Amino acid sequence: MNPDIAKQNAAIAALDYIEDGMVVGLGTGSTSAHFVRALGERVHAGLKVKGVPTSEATRTLAEQVGVPLVEISQVSRIDVDVDGADEIDPAFRLIKGGGGALLREKIVAAASARMVVIADAGKWVERLGAFPLPVEVTRFGFALTAARVREALLATNCAGDEVSLRTSGKANEPVITDGGNYILDAHAKAIADPDALASALNQIAGVVEHGLFIGLAGTVILGREAGVDVREK
Ligand code: A5P
Repeated sequence: MNPDIAKQNAAIAALDYIEDGMVVGLGTGSTSAHFVRALGERVHAGLKVKGVPTSEATRTLAEQVGVPLVEISQVSRIDVDVDGADEIDPAFRLIKGGGGALLREKIVAAASARMVVIADAGKWVERLGAFPLPVEVTRFGFALTAARVREALLATNCAGDEVSLRTSGKANEPVITDGGNYILDAHAKAIADPDALASALNQIAGVVEHGLFIGLAGTVILGREAGVDVREK
């Protein structure tokens, strides 16, 4: 399977959920970027929508392709949020945040009447956790917070308990999110109980947000090299 063609197919299929006059959450990542570009083409053809970007990268892309934007503080509703995912399980629980945008992504998803997830079919998994779970944490006290995150993995019977600080570049500098925080990657390997892990992470001081998206996705569009598979909750 060519994942990029599959991602593009999923992104284009999500246009079916967009109607004139809607406020649209614009996700982050390579699949969402396909969607933003396709939406830009529709806007040029006359579609009237306003986008709420979930990252500065998506804001820049949307501006480049001509999708009109609105600040989240200026909207009272978001009609539909279209975003990618790193893993999706059969209960429509997601791991997100591979691109580091999980905080704004979750705020936008939670404010949306409908969340449409677009992904290549390889993101569908029976059990979450092979993809390291991103956890956004304050810089202050991050090493202590990492220790608490490790305890949460152990307490909820995850298969792995390694927690690493996300870094980038030759100098291995910590990645800083759009919100000015750090990202920890929790290598759970297999998450036995995503709901329990989400609750445990929510209780840790220093955790700003985590990449388990539970009860948010209503539609999943899995792209394949030829066509898509649409699943509704
Ligand atoms: C961004 O922070 C993530 O949540 C992305 O939505 C996720 O990593 C999917 O990315 P791709 O579309 O690039 O696979």
